Amino acid sequence: MKRVWIETYGCQMNVVDSETVMAILCGTGGFERASDVRDADVVLLNTCSIRDNAEERVWHRLDELGALKKRRQGTVLGILGCMAERLREQILTERPAVDLVVGPDGYRSLPELLAQGGGVNTELSKEETYAEISPVRLDERGVSAFVSIMRGCNNFCSYCVVPYTRGRERSRDPQTILREVGELFAAGYREVTLLGQNVNSYTFEQVDFPELLRRVAAVSPLLRVRFATSHPKDLTDRLLEVMAATPNICRAIHLPAQSGSTRMLELMNRKYTREWYLDRIAAIRRVMPDCAISTDVIAGFCGETAEDHAATLSLMREVGYEFAYMFKYSERPDTVAARTMADDVAEAVKTARLAEIIGLQNELSLASNRRDVGREFEILVEGVSKRSSERVFGRTSQNKVVVVGRFGADGAEHRAGDYLRVRVTGCSSATLQGEVI
Ligand code: 5AD
Ligand code: SF4
Repeated sequence: MKRVWIETYGCQMNVVDSETVMAILCGTGGFERASDVRDADVVLLNTCSIRDNAEERVWHRLDELGALKKRRQGTVLGILGCMAERLREQILTERPAVDLVVGPDGYRSLPELLAQGGGVNTELSKEETYAEISPVRLDERGVSAFVSIMRGCNNFCSYCVVPYTRGRERSRDPQTILREVGELFAAGYREVTLLGQNVNSYTFEQVDFPELLRRVAAVSPLLRVRFATSHPKDLTDRLLEVMAATPNICRAIHLPAQSGSTRMLELMNRKYTREWYLDRIAAIRRVMPDCAISTDVIAGFCGETAEDHAATLSLMREVGYEFAYMFKYSERPDTVAARTMADDVAEAVKTARLAEIIGLQNELSLASNRRDVGREFEILVEGVSKRSSERVFGRTSQNKVVVVGRFGADGAEHRAGDYLRVRVTGCSSATLQGEVI
């Protein structure tokens, strides 16, 4: 039995991919999970190329693992995921310690390649969805799991490397999704997050995304259903209506704006305007007034002026986001932006704009959390608080973390997977404090 250690970089999709890789390897009967990298026979890094700093972390880690490999002769070192796809040649020439380079669509070939001590497979596929493989969950808490419903991306936002590293968009057979979700629920999971680069364009035979969501939510009223990511251009009223009619579909939508300036959105090839985006926000508010909205924002994209930046800040204020992921633009080789536009916002200006965006978001998150003080929510408990063994934390439907006492009035312990009714009693910009009612 060979012991496998896998480290995951980047997005939630990579978490599922790592779990899929473990399922493929463990399914052969020849591999098991290592409990420590130092005991592993096979060390895999599942990598991300979305921004330069994500790649930098992996290069750095590779140097450390190269040293480990010298001490443990025979360890196989593999690079998986987007960096494998994008930088195969560079990895093979500059890092001789690497034995295995496999891109996002090549994981089924891992057992065969590992049997040979390594190899390369960066073939992209138009069909591969790993549909029938049930990922081996790496998170031991066992309350919340990610479920991949599609792979790849066809949108070609001009800054983004994903369509090149993960290939064309394809949807997974809904039968296999429903089977996997059913298995998760039976195993005690109480929340699934359906994942795709653009879930709103999910389509498989007669099933579109709202219909898939409805079927997944029907697995059990005790199962919470989330999804990410929605592209604003494809967010339909029908999706909102299905959400509103189904209490166990969570009241949270991640709707990346990227910029508040229509001029920037056009250069980014986002295919919507500021007005269109705000119309979608108005639709969400109309159908689900209690829905949380979060976003991704990029600071300092090619040609961004002070005025464009101000438009992003004003959009953020106008929407009043609950939460945001915020980034400095990082030029990715071979994307349309890298080929045709100048990365001309000075680093210091990017830094200053990002700081302003982060400062504003902290303000908006705090304001949103303050509005929740005094209100009641149902939370799904995820575990004991890291700060205090006397407290547990869980999330509201809106995806906000609430910390409450670990024991009820009767002394009974609240455990991961329990639903609790709570009243919010206080907050910071990051979390809510509450009491069980
Ligand atoms: N530079 C900075 N941020 C990027 N993102 C994607 N590509 C880049 C890039 N080149 C961000 C977008 C996307 C999120 C997943 O990562 O905001 O929504
Ligand atoms: Fe990248 Fe745009 Fe596809 Fe998201 S939708 S993965 S930002 S190309």
